[in-house]
Amino acid sequence: MKFLITAGPTREPIDPVRYISNRSSGKMGYAIAQAALDAGHEVVLISGPVTLPAPPRAQMIRVTTADEMYDAVHANIAGIDIAVLCAAVADFKPAAFASRKIKKREGIPVIELVPTRDILASLGALKAKNFLLAGFAAETDDLEKNAREKLEKKQCDVVIANDVSAPGLGFESDENVITIFLPDQSSQVLPRATKRGLANDLVKILCALQ
Ligand code: C5P
Repeated sequence: MKFLITAGPTREPIDPVRYISNRSSGKMGYAIAQAALDAGHEVVLISGPVTLPAPPRAQMIRVTTADEMYDAVHANIAGIDIAVLCAAVADFKPAAFASRKIKKREGIPVIELVPTRDILASLGALKAKNFLLAGFAAETDDLEKNAREKLEKKQCDVVIANDVSAPGLGFESDENVITIFLPDQSSQVLPRATKRGLANDLVKILCALQ
């Protein structure tokens, strides 16, 4: 099978030295990429800025902004069997980019934000969708309700949800607990384990669904 995986955060520039981003480390997406490679699959890994080494044998595409990630995903979706959108894409970006560094002496700036394009929803809306589409939901509350809403709104086949409010789990951590939600209302909990262990199970489950 051929996987396309997005991972890590995006950075939305304010001026040449400042940006808006988030705490995503990329660990979960990179673990899924490595698990898929180890199981003998092909992987296109589209990654925002992270400090992790590229998994050997992955086709790496490095991007910075949400717009770049959107374009890279759409340029590489042909021939993909399973798309796993794990990246923590910024939801908002500055409406304008200041080409010179904003000076402190000019006072506190007002930065207008505009929404970024939703990559997952854009794949869900593709009419000729012949790949399995898995999205992630990082939630601090109402895990099931939010995950099921995402499944429907973004027209995914699978939503993988994790509770990012739990200490020692989720963002930046090496461990996670995930729940897999499917459109037939069923769900499956993968109990606390390393991201790499969860990734192995997830790859098997996704391949069985495709
Ligand atoms: O709506 P929310 O951001 O919580 O949805 C998370 C899911 O949507 C993740 O799979 C994430 O990769 C994807 N997403 C995306 N493009 C965006 C925002 C989120 O692909 N602009």
